[in-house]
Amino acid sequence: MEKLVIRGGVPLSGRVRVSGAKNAVLPIIAATLLTQDTCRLEGVPRLTDVKNIVDLISHMGAETGWEEETLTVTAHRLHKLEAPYECVSRMRASFLIMGPLLARFGQARVCLPGGCNIGTRPIDLHLKGFSCLGAQITRDSGYIEARVKNGLKGTRIYLDFPSVGATENIMMAAVLADGLTRIENAAEEPEIVDLANFLNAMGGRVSGAGTKVVSIEGVSALKGANHVVIPDRVEAGTYMVAAAITGGDIYIDNVITEHLKPVIAKLEETGAKILNGGQGLRVIGPERIEPVNVMTLPYPGFPTDMQAQITSLLTRANGTSIITETVFENRFMHAEELARMGADICVDGRTAIVKGVPGLCGAKVQATDLRGGAALIIAGLAATGETEIRFVHHIDRGYESIERKLSSLGADIKRI
Ligand code: UD1
Repeated sequence: MEKLVIRGGVPLSGRVRVSGAKNAVLPIIAATLLTQDTCRLEGVPRLTDVKNIVDLISHMGAETGWEEETLTVTAHRLHKLEAPYECVSRMRASFLIMGPLLARFGQARVCLPGGCNIGTRPIDLHLKGFSCLGAQITRDSGYIEARVKNGLKGTRIYLDFPSVGATENIMMAAVLADGLTRIENAAEEPEIVDLANFLNAMGGRVSGAGTKVVSIEGVSALKGANHVVIPDRVEAGTYMVAAAITGGDIYIDNVITEHLKPVIAKLEETGAKILNGGQGLRVIGPERIEPVNVMTLPYPGFPTDMQAQITSLLTRANGTSIITETVFENRFMHAEELARMGADICVDGRTAIVKGVPGLCGAKVQATDLRGGAALIIAGLAATGETEIRFVHHIDRGYESIERKLSSLGADIKRI
């Protein structure tokens, strides 16, 4: 089993380049199933989650090819319209193939995603969207099957919560439906905008992405398209926090500053300096980390995917911070692991009270989920002595070459 071993205490310095966004590329790869033509995606990160979805569509019959950061997909003929248990249990985002398959082939069968370590994560809003569009939904032997006889019909769909995945799945189903679909209370994340741009490059008619109402005027067919994936705002945010906790000074290349507004605002409150320049950001860590209160919210609020990392930073603050998680109900598993490193965190339901301590000490810890794993790396970079992180596979789901990138910033980190 692989481990990451970190010897902390080195202020990060230098330059690091952010990869393409995992959460943008997963739905975009699913969207390539909407056409029989070839799609060419650039800036695709080599992550386990990406490999998993590529394996899934290949298993269904799509032809895929990699050349460095470019992925080509041709879903000319598909012989299986199904995501089996092995795929969905590895990665919930496999559920995103349902919208495209239903739109193009009128049917799809996807294993029901089970429980997840960051919360229950239901799929009711995805299914509500498909049935509003006219699909019949049935469940058997742990699978969800959706079918439509004479094509999907555009309609108005109100989401009770602005779910990212449901907005994306419904957009991909509605793009080939007959007539106009309006998704109300849609998620506004930048990854939704990237998906809409890709669908429009394929010949779709999607407008309003990035606002609370997304309108989709159905078209009869889509063609192949080329697309460059947006930079990963969570990866960028993770390096920003790593620079802040080590009192470093780094330049992060390939970022869209606008996407990082809430993270920049909170880091500035802690005393970090963030300077805009060129295609990136310079981050200078604070001399003294000030405590801040953080509440996670759908975009443009503070991202839940940055909550664990900022928690690590606040363990070293000069006072007490309160962190409230409103998006997922069980997303503080990293708190216990951070406590093994000397952090003082008290979790009560969706709130964590973090009392800053003068220092963290290296320990043997385990990554409990993707972002929780990133939080342990951040803590390890600031701790005295050696930190050994097990269950690195969680981290590899969402960070490309993390030990190489951090080493290039001067960190003492090895994979063994
Ligand atoms: C996506 C991101 C994930 C991020 C999350 C929130 C991808 C591949 N993953 O996940 O990294 O943490 O957005 O920003 O893009 N919900 C329902 N019913 C549904 C769907 C969701 O109640 O049908 C609830 C969930 O339980 C959760 C909340 O909505 O509490 C947010 O989930 P959602 O926005 O759907 O997250 P994902 O798309 O799964």
